[in-house]
Amino acid sequence: MGEPTESRSTAGESMSDYGPVPPAGSSTAGKSTVSKSTVSKSTVSKSTVSKSTVSKSTVSKSTEGEQAGISALSGAPGESGSALMNTYFPPRITFVEGEGTYLLDSEGKRYIDFFSGIAVTSLGHSHPVVTEAISCQASKLMHVSNIFGNGLRDDLAAEINKLVCAGRSGSAGQVFLCNSGAEANECAIKLSRKWGNPARFRIISTQGSFHGRTLATWAATGKSAGSLSFAPLPGGFDFIPYNDIPALEHALASPDVAAFLVEPIQGENGIVVPDDGYLHAAREICDRYGVLLIADEVQTGIAKTGEWFAFQHDGILPDIVTVAKALGNGMPVGACWASREVASSFVPGDHGSTFGGQPLACAAALATLDVMQDIDAPARAIAIGRAVNAMLEDADGVSSVRGRGALLGIVLERDCAKQVAETALDWGLVVNSPRGDVLRIAPPLTINELDLQQGLEILAGTISRVAGHEA
Ligand SMILES: Cc1ncc(COP(=O)(O)O)c(C=O)c1O
Repeated sequence: MGEPTESRSTAGESMSDYGPVPPAGSSTAGKSTVSKSTVSKSTVSKSTVSKSTVSKSTVSKSTEGEQAGISALSGAPGESGSALMNTYFPPRITFVEGEGTYLLDSEGKRYIDFFSGIAVTSLGHSHPVVTEAISCQASKLMHVSNIFGNGLRDDLAAEINKLVCAGRSGSAGQVFLCNSGAEANECAIKLSRKWGNPARFRIISTQGSFHGRTLATWAATGKSAGSLSFAPLPGGFDFIPYNDIPALEHALASPDVAAFLVEPIQGENGIVVPDDGYLHAAREICDRYGVLLIADEVQTGIAKTGEWFAFQHDGILPDIVTVAKALGNGMPVGACWASREVASSFVPGDHGSTFGGQPLACAAALATLDVMQDIDAPARAIAIGRAVNAMLEDADGVSSVRGRGALLGIVLERDCAKQVAETALDWGLVVNSPRGDVLRIAPPLTINELDLQQGLEILAGTISRVAGHEA
C-alpha cells in the first residue's frame, strides 16, 4: 500500500514531455482549446476562481441520495418520464463535446477531465489519430460478423498478445475479442471452467472486488456478496480477503478450484493497492495447486499504472488477462487473453459475440495501441503520478495518495469525497469518488504540464475547502 511504485526507468523525464502546450493565448486557466465555433455560451472556466473567491455556498448539496455503490458520476436520466431504464442516477451535467483533456457541457462551460470516463479515454477525448482511424474504417467496412475474417481482428489480437507478453520471450497466447470488461471477464470465467471441467469449477475472487454486472461477473464481484437482488446467482464463486496470502493458500488447496480472479489494484473499491509481491505470491500459489491465475486488468490495463499491464510490476505472467476500458480510448472494445495451453480449451461454438472484434472497434483499438506505444504512455503515467504526489500528498485535507502511475486514489481525512467531487465540478474539474473517503483520478496520459498543474490546483483547493482543517 502507499505511494505509487515506479518500476520503469524514467530517468531524465520531465513534465514538459507530456505533449504540446496549448496554443499561445490559451495558456491561461480561463481559456479553452475547444474550438470557438463549438462554444455557444461563456467558456470562462471556473477553474480560474481562486480558493479565496469561492464562497462556501458553492459547496454542492447535491450529494443527497447518491449512489452508495460505484462511480457516482456515471449518470443517465433516471427521472420518471425518461425513456431510459432507472439504472443510473440522473446526471447533473450533460457533456456535449470533448477535446484532449477538456470537456464542454451543454451550457458551454469547460472542464479539465481527470476522470477520463472511468479510466477509459487515456489518450484524451477525440484523439486525432483514433478519430481518423474510426472515420476511415467507418467509410470502408464496419461489420461482417465473425463468420468471416475482417482483416483487422488478427492484428489486434497479435498486438494485445505482444503487450501482455512484453519482455517475456517464448510466451504467447491467444485472444478473444469482445465489447466490454464484463464480457472479457465472462469469457475468462467460462474458459477457466472449460479448462477445469469437470473436476475444477470453483472461482475464487476477493472481497471488495468488482468484475462486472452480468450474472456470472456479478457473482464473482466481492461488492455483490450478500445481495439477494438477483438470486439465485450462478454458484461456485467464493471470496477471500484481498491482499491476504494465507487466505489464498487455504482457498486454493481445495481440489475443485479452477481459477483465482483478481484485480492487480481494486479500482471500484477505491484504488486499493496490495502489498508489493502479492501477485508474485499468487502466481506461485496458483502454480503449486494447479489453479489458473486471472488478472482483471479492465481498469488497470494499458499503460496507466506505469506498465502496459499492472501485473507486470510483479514480473509475472497470469494464465488469463482481461482488458477493456482504455483499449479503444472510448470505442467499446474488450479482450480476454489466455496462454495457448489454456485458450486451447475452447472449440468453435463454446463462446462468441456478434460484435466482438468487428472492424470499427479493431481500428480504434489498433490506433489507440499505436499511439500509446509512440508516446511511451507508461512513462507518462509514471511522470503524472509523481506530479500528483508532489502536489497532493501533504495537501490540506488529504490523508494519503495511493495507486500506481496515473491511476490514483486521493484518500481524504474525512468522509466527504462525493462533496469534493461535486464542488470540483463547480470549479471546472471532473473527478469521481468510488467511496466515501476516496477520490479517484485517471488523467489522460496526453495531458500537458500546464493542464495537469491547473487541475491539481483546483483539486487541492476543492479538497481544502470541503475536507480541510478550516472547512
Ligand atoms: C476491474 C473491473 N472489471 C470489470 C469491469 C466491468 O467493465 P464494463 O463496465 O466495461 O463491463 C470494471 C468496470 O469498472 C472494472 O473496473
